[in-house]
Amino acid sequence: MGTSELNLQALADYITAAFAEEDAVLRAARARMQQSGLPPINVSPSEGKLLQVLARLIGAQRILEIGTLGGYSAIWLARALPPEGKLVTLEIDCHHAEVARENLAQAGLGHKVEVRLGRAAETLRHMHAQGEPPFDLIFIDADKESYPEYFELCLPLLRRGGLLLADNALSPVMRDPQRTGGVARYNALAAARADLASIIVPMLRGEDRVDGLILSLKL
Ligand code: SAH
Ligand code: DHB
Ligand code: MG
Repeated sequence: MGTSELNLQALADYITAAFAEEDAVLRAARARMQQSGLPPINVSPSEGKLLQVLARLIGAQRILEIGTLGGYSAIWLARALPPEGKLVTLEIDCHHAEVARENLAQAGLGHKVEVRLGRAAETLRHMHAQGEPPFDLIFIDADKESYPEYFELCLPLLRRGGLLLADNALSPVMRDPQRTGGVARYNALAAARADLASIIVPMLRGEDRVDGLILSLKL
């Protein structure tokens, strides 16, 4: 049976309609991203819902995101936080950060989310130096070549029992048979660590495209 007969689009639509329907706030956030010229490379609604369920599963109170774009995944994640919870999200592009701040304010999440502007690797090093308290969940979704560096920089910032997540765990890997790209090296680093329990969850992205979310539980 060919991929087209599997009809991945229909399965993706079913999951989204049943479990991850966007509300007006999420639709407006995507509309503002589009009006502001941001690329449509946010997580899908079903991946956003998965992030949210995972954050709730571990009772996350402090979340770190690398790669904000227009704040779409940040809205899904921040909605999992308790009243005193906090999300810090790192972004290099000041226009993206501006759109994200507006989207998060419109979502009523401005008080819970801090968008930090700058190169993520530099911000992470600054966090180490400043003794940043540990995070419960870290979601990596920025420049793919830096994933191995983010892996090393993020693990010390994650509490035991915390979740390290990274988007796009499958698409570049499948395009690169040598598996030398940043995402493939990240996956190999995670797989080799005995102090992490890791797996890639394939994600249907629509138009018959498949990508993946890699999950690593810090033991
Ligand atoms: N998580 C977002 C999508 C992020 S797209 C969502 O699902 O809604 C990737 C983002 O990473 C872009 O906004 C890009 O500007 C940002 N980025 C790229 N390189 C970066 C770097 N070195 N440091 C911080 N952010 C970076
Ligand atoms: C693309 C998708 C992503 O999830 C991402 O983080 C970066 C780029 C893309 O489809 O090009
Ligand atoms: Mg992504």
